[in-house]
Amino acid sequence: MLLVKDMKDLKGKRVIVRVDFNVPQKGGVISDDNRIVAALPTIKELVGKGARLILMSHLGKVKHKEAPEVVEEQKKKNNMAPVAVRLGELLPGVNVKFVNATRGEELKSAVNELKDGEVLLMQNTRYEKGEEKCDPELSKEWASLGDAFVMDAFGSAHRAHASTYGIPEILKAEGKQVALGYLVEKEVVSLDRVVNVPEENHPYIAILGGFKVSDKIKVIDSLLKKCDKVIIGGAMAYTFAVALGRKVGSSPYEPDQLEYAKKMYDTGKILLPVDSKIANDFENPTDIRVVEGDIPEGYQGMDIGPKTAELYAKEIAKAKTVFWNGPMGVFEKDEFTAGTVAVCKACAELKGAFTVIGGGDSASAAKKLGYKEKFSHVSTGGGASLEMIENDGHLPGIDVIK
Ligand code: 3PG
Repeated sequence: MLLVKDMKDLKGKRVIVRVDFNVPQKGGVISDDNRIVAALPTIKELVGKGARLILMSHLGKVKHKEAPEVVEEQKKKNNMAPVAVRLGELLPGVNVKFVNATRGEELKSAVNELKDGEVLLMQNTRYEKGEEKCDPELSKEWASLGDAFVMDAFGSAHRAHASTYGIPEILKAEGKQVALGYLVEKEVVSLDRVVNVPEENHPYIAILGGFKVSDKIKVIDSLLKKCDKVIIGGAMAYTFAVALGRKVGSSPYEPDQLEYAKKMYDTGKILLPVDSKIANDFENPTDIRVVEGDIPEGYQGMDIGPKTAELYAKEIAKAKTVFWNGPMGVFEKDEFTAGTVAVCKACAELKGAFTVIGGGDSASAAKKLGYKEKFSHVSTGGGASLEMIENDGHLPGIDVIK
């Protein structure tokens, strides 16, 4: 498998780089540029080799089935132009251009005008309705713009779209260089350590939180086969609690997942909260208390309780490998951060263990709570890292390169 550092003869060549610049932004103001920063090593390597870079990424969602005015609104909301400005600031001395087109003559001439070592960011790939369908015509048109392709969008590698799958499939068949970038290489190496875990790296403990059991069915199945214990927190825990005959007040749970939750619990590997921090209202909690067992009517669970935090910390302390996805409670509100802090702290205190955060909310939580640097690896892809575990290390956007 080719890596960007081993690519040869790139001077004057047009290299398409699929990056994941799906950054949180509102009205053009980017609130977290982590994903742009994470792609810089690959971009700098290619600029240094004298290539002409064509960067492609999606930004947000554009639902082409909606009415035309709604689609226009979504396009406006997810305009890539501000990302090009930020990228330019992060690459002093490099000429970073932006093209407000995703097909046709305007795009072609912007590519043709590129000089060696220059960078062109294309408008949002999802402006095209063929992107998510991996439309062959669109893939062909985009592939025709490049002499080589680099996949550096780990966060999008679980999507077999035109820009992540269609382009490299065509260029590879044409005998052109297709490679993985630095970011993807690092993700693959790190995540492999939670996908294939040899006996000497056990106990292997997974910590799962977040909202729905149904979103995580496949990953729970897979983790139960790989791990010694799966610790459950967040709203997911209420579905398990109801499945075991407990009362959860007005906490959200999924009635259609009860049977599955019970079956998973019966494996004997799942740890559930023994107490909860509950509140009378989600938005404006005025009555906050801790309960063991059942949650009374009129209250909902907002975080794991202190006894659970202690129990989970003790379990984590035994681990040699940890994979964490999903916060333990509503960490965005100061009153309900304690459970997530306890998990972060327990992972931070592990000596010689390999600890991975699988992107998404848990990565934001670790950053907000000041623990991000204490983890061995924090993935840039939430959905992608979960699918990598589910599919035993396989993702379409990476397999197509291999
Ligand atoms: C992400 O933010 O998880 C990736 O950029 C993928 O985005 P998507 O779920 O909209 O495909």
